[in-house]
Amino acid sequence: MRIIAVRGDITEADVDVVVNAANPGLLGGGGVDGAIHRAGGPAILAECRAAKRALPDGLLPRGKAVPTTAGRLPARWVVHTAGPIWSAAQDRSAVLRSCYTESLRVADALGARSVAFPAISAGVYGWPIEDAAVQAVAGVRAFQPQHVTEVRFVLFDDRALEAFERALSD
Ligand code: APR
Repeated sequence: MRIIAVRGDITEADVDVVVNAANPGLLGGGGVDGAIHRAGGPAILAECRAAKRALPDGLLPRGKAVPTTAGRLPARWVVHTAGPIWSAAQDRSAVLRSCYTESLRVADALGARSVAFPAISAGVYGWPIEDAAVQAVAGVRAFQPQHVTEVRFVLFDDRALEAFERALSD
């Protein structure tokens, strides 16, 4: 798998799968979640509601991932994952890595060849960007794909891009 980091708006990524940094409720929010629902349109939320009905208590466990249509986005699917909230007291890095590995497993099972990720948990969920990048790269590298040939980290600002470039160079 080719793994690259680029600066940009993930809703414009021309890939098979765009990964959404959602929350367990799967009903939208701010940040990249809000951007994906705004750009992708109501079809995404409709399928999130359907996905919720198949989830325990209607909630997506953190570190897990579910697919929906991508609606009006260039992508074919959106894979929604819920990242861990940063905690200085508790090491939740395995859950963050799982967001990447599980999202890739779901995308690969769909037959996707290219997948775009945002910096999961590095916004509202407060994860320090340097370590968010280290966990992201580790989570992606832990996956052995059948179909996926390209993983693209799409970063919204230069600081995040530089953190991911450093993590990829290690
Ligand atoms: N394209 C790419 N990256 C983006 C975009 C975009 N259009 N918009 C925001 N980002 C970046 C942020 O700058 C941050 O680096 O995505 C990263 C993740 O930030 P959040 O979207 O806040 O996601 P997260 O920290 O995982 O928090 C998730 O926030 O929006 C709510 O419903 C969501 O409750 C959930 C929580």
